Amino acid sequence: MPNKHFLLALLCCAQAVLCAQQPAVIPQPARIDLSPELAPFVWRQARFIAVDPQQPDIQALAVELSEILQPYTGYPLPVVSPAPDNQPGIILQQNPLIAGEEAYRITSRVGLLLVEAATPTGIFWAIQTLRQMLPVVPTIEETLPVMSIEDAPAYPWRGGHLDVGRHFMPVTQVKRYIDMLSFYKFNVFHWHLTEDQGWRIAIEKYPKLAEVGAWRREADGSRYGGFYTQAEIREVVEYARKRHIMVVPEIEMPGHCMAALAAYPHLSCTGQPLEVPSHWGVMQDVFCPGKEATFSFIEDVLTEVIALFPAPYLHIGGDEVPKNRWQACHDCQRRMKMEGLPDAHALQSYFIRRIEQFLHSKGRQLIGWDEILEGGVSQSALIEVWRGDEQARAAAANGNRYLKTSYFDGHPGAYTLEKVYHLELSTPGFSSGQQQLCLGAECCVWTEHIPEYKLEPMVLPRLAALAEAIWSDGNRNYSVFKEKLATHYKWYERNGWQYGPEDRALFQSAIRFDRASRQWVIDAEAGLSGISVDYWRNSNRKNVGHFTDSLLLQTPGKYTIQAHRNGRPFAEPMQYHTMTHLALGKPTVFAQVPHSNYGPLDKSGGLSDGLIGSTAFNDGVWLGWWGDDVEAIVDLGKSTDIKEVSVNFFQQSISWILLPREVEIQLSNDSKTWQTVHTQKIQVDTRDMSVRQYHVAVQLAQPTQTRYVRLKALNYGILPEGHNGAGGKAWVFADEIVVI
Ligand code: ACM
Ligand code: ZN
Repeated sequence: MPNKHFLLALLCCAQAVLCAQQPAVIPQPARIDLSPELAPFVWRQARFIAVDPQQPDIQALAVELSEILQPYTGYPLPVVSPAPDNQPGIILQQNPLIAGEEAYRITSRVGLLLVEAATPTGIFWAIQTLRQMLPVVPTIEETLPVMSIEDAPAYPWRGGHLDVGRHFMPVTQVKRYIDMLSFYKFNVFHWHLTEDQGWRIAIEKYPKLAEVGAWRREADGSRYGGFYTQAEIREVVEYARKRHIMVVPEIEMPGHCMAALAAYPHLSCTGQPLEVPSHWGVMQDVFCPGKEATFSFIEDVLTEVIALFPAPYLHIGGDEVPKNRWQACHDCQRRMKMEGLPDAHALQSYFIRRIEQFLHSKGRQLIGWDEILEGGVSQSALIEVWRGDEQARAAAANGNRYLKTSYFDGHPGAYTLEKVYHLELSTPGFSSGQQQLCLGAECCVWTEHIPEYKLEPMVLPRLAALAEAIWSDGNRNYSVFKEKLATHYKWYERNGWQYGPEDRALFQSAIRFDRASRQWVIDAEAGLSGISVDYWRNSNRKNVGHFTDSLLLQTPGKYTIQAHRNGRPFAEPMQYHTMTHLALGKPTVFAQVPHSNYGPLDKSGGLSDGLIGSTAFNDGVWLGWWGDDVEAIVDLGKSTDIKEVSVNFFQQSISWILLPREVEIQLSNDSKTWQTVHTQKIQVDTRDMSVRQYHVAVQLAQPTQTRYVRLKALNYGILPEGHNGAGGKAWVFADEIVVI
């Protein structure tokens, strides 16, 4: 006779089968009990949505639900009160017995769909669940099984961050992002509004923040930027509120504020005029906490910000603050003496605490990145942990509440859907008290490399995985999630949302020279189907061709390629520069082999492949040597009349790539006796942080017969004191020995 355990096992099996047919709801509800064998609730037969007339918020939700359901019911359901007797319909009901601010319960049976929650927010999340249970393509034959769902989030803070400083996102795009957040029951939109590269919120008292700080000059000379008016900010806050999302503004300080300093230079330590930068990185110039003017400015700005954002939280950044300007600043040093601050960390801490006091006086709580722990922070601050568990431990040890983060700025090949799914919200070794300090998590969308058109492919589908990690922690199953996701791709298509791959780069391409056919080949790989690649030559956009996987190029020139999906650009344009010359396709031998990480796989063709290195040293075209000198001999195959030899070098000092100290070019007909036709010393400035190329060329007085061309370039050597790699070996990068 089967014992109890056996029966239990059978029951679990049956549940597992049901599990496999779970409705495609993401994030996974805490509990779903389906009774699909009974007569279901038929959408088409519903006659009303009933609400309590005392509840205007829920009444508004009923109107929304009626609109969502119209394609499925065939007509708009009237919102009524009370529910008519003996008619099939839907009831939205506030029920204080449902525990949890965001919790809800859905029960359905033939003729009745009952939605209950203690708050309008709970009702709203229930509607998101129902919406995802509808078929993606509306039919009026649809039914809802007899079931009950009891649901509540595992964590109260489920955030989506968006950096609009590096790339500006117009209001329409911000709203689309909010729609996605809301679809997945995120309840915080963390709007990163100010950055080094752009100040994006109009402040009435300081008009130059928008006039100057919102605009930058790009490397190509174009002007880039944008900002939100206060009316637009209000519009977004209201749009989010209707979707039960709180908007938390971030105003960065004391670092990441070059745009503000460009507008108001007196707020920096040096007071020198500055430009809004158009390159990425951590900037040295930050707000000067030695000057009272800095605090008056920030308090004025925050006063206007607080008036625009009703959220009880305000994010002040606080990350990545270099201290060198403060060390050298008379005002900062005086402040430190006056306040008895032992070091620059203490000065940062002074700054943060002072701002926090101001925020408290305005009824706002402070959030900052985990650096605000350094030098001490009050226990009331909420810490956004981005550097790792060590910072979560530091926050908890100090008794601070904290958030975890999931960085969506790396492409999904590097940070896959599955990794996002498994984001660990609990910290190993924490007591339950410490664990309770974790309020939840946010995705971080830093946009250095994410212009508007790339935002959605970087966010979807990973946002779905993160939603489940936060809302459904303790109840996660990746294979079930993947099955549900198949339906969600259809929602993305239906909603017109762009999405990207799960575990590959959005798009990758590389160019190579095929020696046998003497053609160049661009190989492209899209992380997703449905990609088409446009290409054009020498800026001639009147003559655009298309390919998907690979493209053969016979005519030399400057080619641009641009991937598209659904009529929108999908990845950044890439440029490839090809040319023909006398050494094209000729083999090269090296005294010291180039480093395996750079240049084409077959290094022997790397300096004679007709491919000209771009502004990126890792483009697969540049060859690099680490610590070694360059000595390369190109064999033209037979004595040839030549008129000119040239070669390019690269400098990016921050990456330890320096120009050579000296370059020599020699010719030979037998590779034994060499004639030097050019030598040149180069003054290498290791402090020059610009990314630059250096062209070395020799024009011969008359055409000269030669078979071999030898290039020698002397590596800079050991990086000097004061350089970020002091004591290490320098790189030398060269490309294409062009022989004419
Ligand atoms: C950060 O990524 N700098 C917070
Ligand atoms: Zn200062």
